[in-house]
Amino acid sequence: MLKYSIFVIITCSFCLLSGFGLKNEEDNIQKWMKDQYSLWIESVDLLIEKIEHKDDSASLKIQYFKVQNQFRKIQFLLEYISEETVKRYFNGSPLYSIEKNIPTVNLLEPEGLQVLDENFFSSNTNFKESLETAKRLRHLIETNKNLFLSVKLNEYDLHKAMFKAVIGIYTLQVTGFDTPSSKSGLSNAIYSLEGMASFLNIHFKNDNHIKFLGNEFVKSAKFIKSNNDFISFDRVCFYKNNILPILRILKSWSEGFSNYSIAMGDLQGVNFQSEGLFNTDFYHIDYFAQLPLSIIKDKKIIGLGKELFFDSILSNDGKMSCATCHQPEKMFTDGLKKSISNIDGIFGNRNTPTLINAIFTRGFFYDLRENSPSRQIVHVVKDKHEFNSDFMDIIDRLEQNKYYKESFKQAFPNMKISKYSITSAITAYISSLTSFDSTFDRYMRGEIENIDSSIIRGFNLFAGKAACATCHFIPTFSGLLPASYKESESEVLGVPYIWNASGNMTLDIDEGRRNSGKPDDESAHFKYSFKTTTLRNISKTQPYMHNGAFLSLEDVMQFYNKGGGKGLGFDLQHQTLSSAALDLTVNEISDIIIFMKSLDSVPTGH
Ligand code: HEC
Ligand code: HEC
Repeated sequence: MLKYSIFVIITCSFCLLSGFGLKNEEDNIQKWMKDQYSLWIESVDLLIEKIEHKDDSASLKIQYFKVQNQFRKIQFLLEYISEETVKRYFNGSPLYSIEKNIPTVNLLEPEGLQVLDENFFSSNTNFKESLETAKRLRHLIETNKNLFLSVKLNEYDLHKAMFKAVIGIYTLQVTGFDTPSSKSGLSNAIYSLEGMASFLNIHFKNDNHIKFLGNEFVKSAKFIKSNNDFISFDRVCFYKNNILPILRILKSWSEGFSNYSIAMGDLQGVNFQSEGLFNTDFYHIDYFAQLPLSIIKDKKIIGLGKELFFDSILSNDGKMSCATCHQPEKMFTDGLKKSISNIDGIFGNRNTPTLINAIFTRGFFYDLRENSPSRQIVHVVKDKHEFNSDFMDIIDRLEQNKYYKESFKQAFPNMKISKYSITSAITAYISSLTSFDSTFDRYMRGEIENIDSSIIRGFNLFAGKAACATCHFIPTFSGLLPASYKESESEVLGVPYIWNASGNMTLDIDEGRRNSGKPDDESAHFKYSFKTTTLRNISKTQPYMHNGAFLSLEDVMQFYNKGGGKGLGFDLQHQTLSSAALDLTVNEISDIIIFMKSLDSVPTGH
């Protein structure tokens, strides 16, 4: 076995090195990067000079854009080489965040371009803070130079880097995620596309795929240039006419690589060979289920999981099953503001979320307290208001039940009934509850020719003026963050205890993520922070939010239109939703709701 592994490793490294022809190309890539990186440093130097001279605001903005644009040109390679460094130091969100993988509480200060964006485009330029941020950025670019300029990249790397960049352009740049203050996402996208085009053009003239890809990048940049208005930009058209053709070429290019799947390395959430964001193969479901495909795709195991899901045998008093609260006819919710408990008259703390597509997350529950789907089940089993049980008892009950004894034997031969087999079966069932077959998905995939024009207008508002897609990310429309899709976000909206259209409301007292039990989450920044839930099937899962405060989508829209809790006048220091009113008209609100309703899609066979 050991010998076999070594053989595979050696073979793979050989493929990788020989895969992309000449050493020359690698040197060329490095040279291009070195030149571009130097230009980036020069642009920051000039910005620092201008801030020091207290130049006027227009001149500072122009120079800031030069820094931003130069970053966008090389962003696809920088992020591929070290996503963490880019996110942490160069283009971090202007909010506090948590240092991953460090066991102690370690809040990160906002850093880099997004801070400058906020500074230069808010009402008063703060020279001192801008200067400090720009100088720190200069220092960080310099100190990380070796990291970015010494890596040798091959064909596989470039393919992955560009795939991710294209997904990022669509889901983050043209939605305005990166640049909420300057709203310069469209111009960033132009530079990202042109950066990749010039890179390909200089070095890889002889490959057809590369030639087509370069042409598509140029064409897409042109499209944005001639439609460069953030509000009226047609994001549906851009997807169908520009993003899709690019993804198709990327797929076809990668099909020519030998051993691409081996070269991919560790399993990732996204399938780099998918043809589209709205395609059913866009995600690797085994990454999210944290179980191998041999388990989650096994019909016997899914069937067993389904039976357990609907059977009250798991609960201590034999009265409650998963389906008591997650009812299939209500899209796996219960229609209540807050779920019932196993004691009459006592309710749970929160609203029951849908389980359709719930597997596509990196954090379960409204406070993101559990990362693993199998362990999420343990919470339900042990909760004294839910199953109030433990696995020893459950295993006993199942062992004594002839039917289950046989079913487990069939599904997991050679294995005793165990916590592992029980949670794996239920996870397999939940993983089967996925569906990306809504009217909107099918239209974006090109499977249907025409849809109601209000859906298209609604999506454009959702991903533009109304800024919904800066939190409800495409394509799950949840907080699963592109372009790596390996993190799920929570946000502070300031949801009221009960929505009352005539005013006079109070903030809900649930502190959300701050009380998740994880030491990292104890910061005030996570007070009232809740998981951004999916909007797929939203038309059927009322009431809405963690506490069921809203009975209709119209009410939810009023809340957003007023700028969330802060907009309602709540004293909320760390609201992450912009508190500015959205100024959506009655028709615009109606279009957004019609768009959300076009996301309905029920998994078949449940
Ligand atoms: C008593 C009602 C109730 C029962 C029974 C119940 N759930 Fe839930 N479920 C909820 C509520 C409420 C939440 C949200 C809780 C929170 O966020 O704190 C939830 C959350 C979840 C989530 C996380 C969804 C997400 O998007 O984060 C999953 C998955 C889930 N339940 C699966 C199950 C399974 C599997 C079972 C049976 C083993 C089960 N639930 C039993 C009410 C219930
Ligand atoms: C700042 C991030 C953010 C923005 C911007 C945002 N949302 Fe949300 N959305 C959330 C979070 C977080 C929740 C869950 C909050 C809770 O449960 O308390 C949520 C919940 C919802 C829900 C209820 C989901 C459910 O299952 O109960 C709807 C509907 C919704 N959002 C629609 C929208 C629309 C439409 C827009 C644009 C007008 C929008 N959101 C903008 C973060 C955001």
